[in-house]
Amino acid sequence: MNFENTPYSAAEAAAMEAALKAALAGPRGANPLVGAAILSPQGEQLAIGYHRGAGTPHAEADAIFEARKKGVDTAGTTMVVTLEPCNHVGRTGPCAQAIIDAGIAKVIYAVDDPHDPAAGGARTLTAAGVEVRSGLDGGKALEMNRDWFDAVAAKRPFVTLHIAQTLDSRIAAVDGTSQWISCPESLADNHGLRGLIDAILVGTGTVLIDNPRLTARTADGELSAHQPLRAVMGLREVPEDAAVRGTDGRFVHLPTRDPAEALGMLFEQGVRHLMVEGGSSILSTFLAADLVDELIVYIAPTLLGSGTPALNDLGITTLADAQQWSWDEAGGGAVRVLGNDLRLHLRSPRGASGIIKNSVSQKNMASHSDTAEYLTGGH
Ligand SMILES: NC(=O)c1ccc[n+]([C@@H]2O[C@H](COP(=O)([O-])OP(=O)(O)OC[C@H]3O[C@@H](n4cnc5c(N)ncnc54)[C@H](OP(=O)(O)O)[C@@H]3O)[C@@H](O)[C@H]2O)c1
Ligand SMILES: [Zn+2]
Repeated sequence: MNFENTPYSAAEAAAMEAALKAALAGPRGANPLVGAAILSPQGEQLAIGYHRGAGTPHAEADAIFEARKKGVDTAGTTMVVTLEPCNHVGRTGPCAQAIIDAGIAKVIYAVDDPHDPAAGGARTLTAAGVEVRSGLDGGKALEMNRDWFDAVAAKRPFVTLHIAQTLDSRIAAVDGTSQWISCPESLADNHGLRGLIDAILVGTGTVLIDNPRLTARTADGELSAHQPLRAVMGLREVPEDAAVRGTDGRFVHLPTRDPAEALGMLFEQGVRHLMVEGGSSILSTFLAADLVDELIVYIAPTLLGSGTPALNDLGITTLADAQQWSWDEAGGGAVRVLGNDLRLHLRSPRGASGIIKNSVSQKNMASHSDTAEYLTGGH
């Protein structure tokens, strides 16, 4: 049967809206934001799910879990999801199989999964007799994860840049003291992020001045279960007794000043989400190279008037060339008060890239095309 010209029902469109909204609750990073809704054959929304970050159940599994928790029978239902269900066995099982096992009869997804190992979920579903359609709100789903699609297409980690600064954008005082500009709540937030990412990066300057450990720690100073790889970028040697070396082998020195090369080295080592923590030279070099997807800035109500500025020259000499960042509501909101600090969350200024311009239109599996066609604008 050809569904190509059959319009989506109002219930399906509303379910996709709900799935897109739910997706925004998740954190950005190595995985895209994904939301899912389950609809009864009558179009009633039975359950909503979303992805809470790397290593946690995917949105589809989360929605099925929510339905089961409510005692809802998923047999014969419709799953509406913002990304093509995955086919791979990663840290969590493949969603395509979970959907088949749940007896779901129809799947509507917004946009194809560009990952080679994950791609093909739609084919598996179709082969199992599930009716599959794609493209509903494809433009919105692509825009929501545009930075993630860019990073996947470029085969580099998703980059979060972290700055802890004073009101006047200083990250250290003249004498080099910088610990701690942020309040305990901001530090705890930062350590929470460290416990989720694959790697953390600073420059040799920060290592030589601050001698940071760069571990993820709980409020009582204990090491978190997951520790990021600790990367130091720069040509100078990292001292043998530097705290960042640690004893767990999760340390790497990247002897380069080229941020793209550093990202390439980390990607090779399996890093998919990197947090760049400083100092000014390193923050600036990533920003100037347009290699930052997400900005998290903690602003303390403190003034220094002198000291190390958060950023150096970005090569911008006129206002028209200023980088225009966008507020990002994902993962808890664009602006939050954390203890005594403000936490700002922003998205890259890259603007809508080619992936959006070529976004998929409503289509069915018969016209299921190569994902590369809308990834051509990637960086
Ligand atoms: N508040 C915060 O969030 C925060 C976080 C981190 C650091 N800090 C502060 O930042 C200060 C350090 O800043 P910083 O700028 O001196 O150190 P940095 O950015 O950590 O390191 C600078 C060094 O990185 C190397 N490097 C690698 N690639 C580079 C590139 N493309 N351009 C320039 N240098 C490159 C260079 O050393 P080589 O000669 O070895 O190549 C350079 O001297 C410290 O006072 C620290 O306390 C604050
Ligand atoms: Zn999945």
